[in-house]
Amino acid sequence: MPRIMLEKVTMQFGDIYAVKDIDLVVRDGEYLTVLGPSGCGKTSLIKVISGIWTPSSGRVLIDGEDVTSIPIEDRNVGYVFQNIALFPHMEVLKNVSYGPLMRDMPLDERNAVAEKYLQLVKMLDKMGMLPGELSSGEQQKVAISRALASGSNLLLLDEPLSALDARVRMELRYEIRRLVKDLGITVVHVTHDQDEAMSVSDRIVVMRNGGIVETDTPMALYRRPNNLFTAYFIGETNLIEGMVSDKNAHNIVVRLRDGTDVKVNGNRHFNIDDAVVLSVRPEYVYTAKEGLTAKVTQVIYMGSYWRVIARAESMDMVEYNIQRYENPPAIGSDVNLVFNPKMLMVYKRPTEGISEAIRLE
Ligand SMILES: Nc1ncnc2c1ncn2[C@@H]1O[C@H](COP(=O)(O)OP(=O)(O)OP(=O)(O)O)[C@@H](O)[C@H]1O
Ligand SMILES: [Mg+2]
Repeated sequence: MPRIMLEKVTMQFGDIYAVKDIDLVVRDGEYLTVLGPSGCGKTSLIKVISGIWTPSSGRVLIDGEDVTSIPIEDRNVGYVFQNIALFPHMEVLKNVSYGPLMRDMPLDERNAVAEKYLQLVKMLDKMGMLPGELSSGEQQKVAISRALASGSNLLLLDEPLSALDARVRMELRYEIRRLVKDLGITVVHVTHDQDEAMSVSDRIVVMRNGGIVETDTPMALYRRPNNLFTAYFIGETNLIEGMVSDKNAHNIVVRLRDGTDVKVNGNRHFNIDDAVVLSVRPEYVYTAKEGLTAKVTQVIYMGSYWRVIARAESMDMVEYNIQRYENPPAIGSDVNLVFNPKMLMVYKRPTEGISEAIRLE
């Protein structure tokens, strides 16, 4: 049985749809991430799942039970709020042991549980302090341990790591994933950080403008995104316009704006003269003797590789990578670029234009 099921959930404020017509299933024990740009409705969605908000329409089912109008305090969920929301008058230890207290756990036991989760986020030494005496990153760590200590097997995390510095954020994301997998907890984790989503999720829901763009595993969304917006939003990609100029039994040929022909495997549903957009990740662009001619405009040292940015005559910008031990091209030099035909994605060119189709706000 799915843990959470949303049926046509809409959350409306006047004429703003924070969430519109969302159908979603979260499986038992799944680590699901909701990823999308600021303002796309992630917090609104998680507030509806948690019971903080009753949706304007639609149904929320948890373990098969319709909980649409049941408030959060009766839903047994562990929640990390985007704005943290610790009890300001309670010390750290009391904040974290609050869930166990509500479950009538004796003092010794609940302190032991709280200390275990404070240890996990390395906050044991601050357990006697008040939230107001902590930095926002420290408060966030306390909020995470409070949610884990709640004992709920359903965790809702709204940007739980946003206030932490990069190193701690990375450590904690793996700690949380390991812990919830060990305990069999189901997680809905909201983030706008695509690296975070890629590295912890079983599946990612990509949201935009209150709706779901697509839902799949991190690998599927990276390698074979169905939607141009996903290709752009998850990972890095080059988007290049063209027209289908030829097709045969196995592949199509896309003619770019400067006249270069690019072979693409599959994609037989496109027809000659269709306006399309190619999407290719920088790691699948290579230099060759012949190909798309472009002038190198920038070379950036990335540590483990070089990133090269080049401009074609058509003004298309293409980014590609060079191994760290190779010599990068000189700025202003000409390169010929080819694309791995297996790793090219082709999309119908959006009628509203590419920039509108990938706009974040
Ligand atoms: N209480 C409210 N009243 C009116 N509009 C609201 C309310 N809460 C959210 N909205 C609107 O709903 C939309 C979605 O907001 P939401 O907070 O869900 O976005 P988000 O994806 O969590 O963004 P962020 O990444 O910035 O946290 C926004 O346009 C926001 O202004
Ligand atoms: Mg939010």
